[in-house]
Amino acid sequence: MPSLDPPVILPLEREDLPRLMPIERAGHVYPWSERVFQDCWQSGYYLDGAFRANDLLGFSVVMPVLDEWHLLNLCVSPRVQRQGIGRSLLAYLLDQAEKAGVGSVWLEVRQSNDPAQQLYAAHGFEQVGRRRDYYPAPGGREDALVLTRRLQAG
Ligand SMILES: CC(C)(COP(=O)(O)OP(=O)(O)OC[C@H]1O[C@@H](n2cnc3c(N)ncnc32)[C@H](O)[C@@H]1OP(=O)(O)O)[C@@H](O)C(=O)NCCC(=O)NCCS
Repeated sequence: MPSLDPPVILPLEREDLPRLMPIERAGHVYPWSERVFQDCWQSGYYLDGAFRANDLLGFSVVMPVLDEWHLLNLCVSPRVQRQGIGRSLLAYLLDQAEKAGVGSVWLEVRQSNDPAQQLYAAHGFEQVGRRRDYYPAPGGREDALVLTRRLQAG
């Protein structure tokens, strides 16, 4: 039984890419390429990792746009899902956003992604829109739900 201690959240560096990619590939049906992550670092986006000991278990990617933060990716290794890692990453991100005076956090989620939608709903995100056929999907295309979470400053 793995430890259920809360993970430590730390910024990810380019050197972490080799251990981040297996999580991305295992977590998403349509994973980002290494190049996309490189571009995120290059663009100054915020990449944070959840660690137990020195083990990377999950990560988040945020694009800051003026007083909005856009959560572009949130992924937890399937071997440790449902242990509170996603919740820890999201709570950390919202806390950082709050401290930075950010007005709102935005994200898109697949219509079929119930686990993620439940996680976001539990952290105060509300659906404010829908992008039809936004994502590729095994059977064709799939809608994205647009969610936002307003913060104190907003
Ligand atoms: C969505 C994801 C990040 C959740 O991470 P996680 O570490 O497994 O989630 P947690 O253990 O912190 O769960 C927090 C809450 O999320 C919801 N949740 C998580 N997994 C769930 C599941 N399989 N079914 C239903 N609800 C789920 C629950 O509300 C849960 O709270 P609870 O355990 O008290 O019921 C993870 O499933 C994942 O990486 N999925 C693949 C990538 C992905 O879809 N990312 C989101 C893109 S928008």
